[in-house]
Amino acid sequence: MVEKPAILGGTPARTRPLGDWPIITDEEIEAVTRVLRRRKLFASMYEGIEVPAFEEEFAKAMNVKYAIAVSSGTAALDIAIAALGIGPGDEVITTPYTFIASATCILQNCAIPVFADVDLRTRNIDPNAIRDKITDRTKAIIVVHIGGHPAAMDEIMEMAEEHDLYVIEDCAQAHLAEYKDEIVGGIGHIGIFSFQESKNMTAGEGGIITTNDPEIAEACYSLREHGRLRNRPWYYHARLGWNYRMTEMQAAILRVQLKRLPHITEERRRNARYLARLLNEVEGVNAGYVAPYVKHAYHLFMIDYFPEIVGMSKMSFVQAVKAEGIPLQEGYAWPVYENDIFKNLRARPRGCPYTCPYYGREVKYEKGLCPNAEKLCYERGLWMPGFSLNVPEKELDDVLVALEKVLSYKDEIAKELNSRSS
Ligand SMILES: Cc1ncc(COP(=O)(O)O)c(C=O)c1O
Repeated sequence: MVEKPAILGGTPARTRPLGDWPIITDEEIEAVTRVLRRRKLFASMYEGIEVPAFEEEFAKAMNVKYAIAVSSGTAALDIAIAALGIGPGDEVITTPYTFIASATCILQNCAIPVFADVDLRTRNIDPNAIRDKITDRTKAIIVVHIGGHPAAMDEIMEMAEEHDLYVIEDCAQAHLAEYKDEIVGGIGHIGIFSFQESKNMTAGEGGIITTNDPEIAEACYSLREHGRLRNRPWYYHARLGWNYRMTEMQAAILRVQLKRLPHITEERRRNARYLARLLNEVEGVNAGYVAPYVKHAYHLFMIDYFPEIVGMSKMSFVQAVKAEGIPLQEGYAWPVYENDIFKNLRARPRGCPYTCPYYGREVKYEKGLCPNAEKLCYERGLWMPGFSLNVPEKELDDVLVALEKVLSYKDEIAKELNSRSS
């Protein structure tokens, strides 16, 4: 006899959180203390101790020549577009199944985002969909390795070469992910990572840009700090830039977190295999697809949900499983282009950049633009945070217990949730 689900008044499958994030130990505390005692909290292209050391260590760990630390992943994306000289009149192709920053960085630089649909299995931008969106205005493709699963880089790099396009890898969710034995962030022309609190390594906020190109790297250093140049005076500004610097405290924390990253990642990979085996026993629920030639970073553990098999809406299912103490999340609730910024062409004042005379074409973002992304958002795509895999394996058994409870009482749950909403 399966126990009554928590949403119907039963006892939850778990009362303790599944995973505890972020991991902060005495090592991080000592690292910050070291910086504070030194009374040097600031770093620039001319000075700093922790930031340049972190940049060097991160570049080595990701197997790239240059790493430029910044204040956030969003800042890294803004700089990446600017460093490639992309601006008014240009189009950049990206995915609608991502965090908004993967697309707003295009608008911030006054270029036009173009959305290409995703592959339903990997949830990553589909190379065939990209091909259909390339025009004479296309300058770059922003590839997001969503959740930590690398995108189809061979096909994308080939297409980029054929059409003379830049490839930006958004690795905000993909620290140490590998595509055919190559670590992401160094496969395209430029990569970015985020160190925001939910990410696989964190300082609360932070980001970094990776590249193997010395000219792109130099442009990024300059754009990070008001367009300064290394060999010029402090108040000389060669180009339009930002203050997107990382602090010494952030870098000191991240140096510790970087050392821990391989262990965190391996544990997630091992436990993901275990959890996938458990989930695949449940009808109507599958662990997200992992291509055989990738190593996943598991920022997110993706779950495919089939409402037509289960007979319960995605949102009701999530609500009931959450009540069991399992951190199941609905994921992106709508594609990026359904936000007002896009749907209602609401970016800069006076319609800019959509009505920019350098562009001079009609821009329309409508429902139905990317059917696979919409299917994932509205029906199929769920996830659990990757940190719920940094637990002893047996704790994951509670996920199966929770799902079995919910599915055994699905009719009663549907009735209960209907009565609550009416
Ligand atoms: C795919 C993706 N790109 C970019 C970002 C932006 O990073 P940040 O939050 O550090 O600005 C995020 C962060 O959530 C992200 O998930």
